[in-house]
Amino acid sequence: MVLNADVDDLINTAISILVSANTIKSFLAEKNLPQPSILNDPSPALFAPELDAARDDILNACHKVQALISAPVHTFGMGLQAHYLDLGVFQWVHHFKVAQAVPLDKTITFEELASATGTPIDILRRMVRYSMTSFVFHEPQPGYVAHTARSRLLLDSSAISLCDLTAEWLFHCADQFAPAVEKWPGSQELNETSYNLSLKTDLPFFQFISQKPAAVAKFGKLMMSFAAGQDWIMKEVAQECRWNDLGKATLVDVGGSIGHTSMVIADVVPDFDFVVEDLPEVVQQGQKVLLENRPELKDRFNFLAHNFFEPQTSDGDIYLLRCILHDYPDKYAIKIVENLLPALKKKNGTRMVIYERIVPLPGAVSVLQERLVRAQDIQMWSCFNSKERELEEWKELVAKVDPGLKLTKVVTPHGSLYSAMEFMFY
Ligand SMILES: C[S@@+](CC[C@H](N)C(=O)[O-])C[C@H]1O[C@@H](n2cnc3c(N)ncnc32)[C@H](O)[C@@H]1O
Repeated sequence: MVLNADVDDLINTAISILVSANTIKSFLAEKNLPQPSILNDPSPALFAPELDAARDDILNACHKVQALISAPVHTFGMGLQAHYLDLGVFQWVHHFKVAQAVPLDKTITFEELASATGTPIDILRRMVRYSMTSFVFHEPQPGYVAHTARSRLLLDSSAISLCDLTAEWLFHCADQFAPAVEKWPGSQELNETSYNLSLKTDLPFFQFISQKPAAVAKFGKLMMSFAAGQDWIMKEVAQECRWNDLGKATLVDVGGSIGHTSMVIADVVPDFDFVVEDLPEVVQQGQKVLLENRPELKDRFNFLAHNFFEPQTSDGDIYLLRCILHDYPDKYAIKIVENLLPALKKKNGTRMVIYERIVPLPGAVSVLQERLVRAQDIQMWSCFNSKERELEEWKELVAKVDPGLKLTKVVTPHGSLYSAMEFMFY
């Protein structure tokens, strides 16, 4: 991280918050839209690309202001304590379905809430009041609880899948970071991770969840929710990569989950057919989702159970690896790409598109953006012994498979930390 003593002072940082807040205020006012509020869901316009820079500036400046005016010891005292408490309290609230018991349009007393959730009132009141310090629920009058925008999010099924994953699995994983390194220092194996220690299983992550149909459904939903509202990103990739110029073509979505990405791409490349490959349980689920949600696409889609550790069997013009390789340490990521080689060499111009986060060099993006990527990087290590990679690391990885497979294009959709890297033989 690069710090600049001239710019990173309190007043300059506070001024930058003011300037950006004004930008947001005027943008929303001009459109006659409500200003941001803790209580109500924000207007989608708040997340318009025109406001990306202003929002990013404010968030980063607030992060910096906190560091500037907090006693350094706070980081390891209340700061650290709050992080683990936030997770524990959140897990408690989630476990007892507190958000579900709070009416959407009126208040509820602590007594009524305790009875609806079957929890002891004293603990409930303390947990909920702690949550309120993060703007999850509020107490409009003493003793009465109501929703905020954040607590209402806990009712959304995609958010619930994310909560389950975080509260049930990832939370416990963090506790095993050091023991995992003590036990398996430098391991590149998929089943020698903090996650394996925390869940007491010898199975790699995806094998573990594939045995649990409820978990498969939740994970699919989660992947779908990450993609939700991001349709434009894959559309931009399709446009920038000029996929329409290929005319009638087949895109093979390797590890494509329930096909949510291909369903988005299908809208902008009407001449494309799609093969969505994944584990048997997942493609079964995908077929169901397609028929329920996008029946009009059924003739253009083929869901196929295929293990990407076996040679590729589907003919395609584009092989998309979207958020796949970051789940694997180099040893396995190389194997996955190797399995595509015969298919890539079959026809001139066949493309492999790796869509992943590219780790920015220190200081290249804002602190919070960098923090997000680095958090994801640690998460990949803790569940899979894998990593997020810098651009050079991506190139090196592919060159190890075959130096003739060249990077021909990098498309980074506006405002995204993800990039599509197109490789082909030429
Ligand atoms: C992180 S998700 C990415 C899903 C999707 N490509 C996306 O971008 O949202 C990884 C996917 O790989 C699938 N997967 C894991 N192991 C696999 C294997 N050996 N063969 C095929 N798919 C696998 C998982 O079921 C999951 O759907």
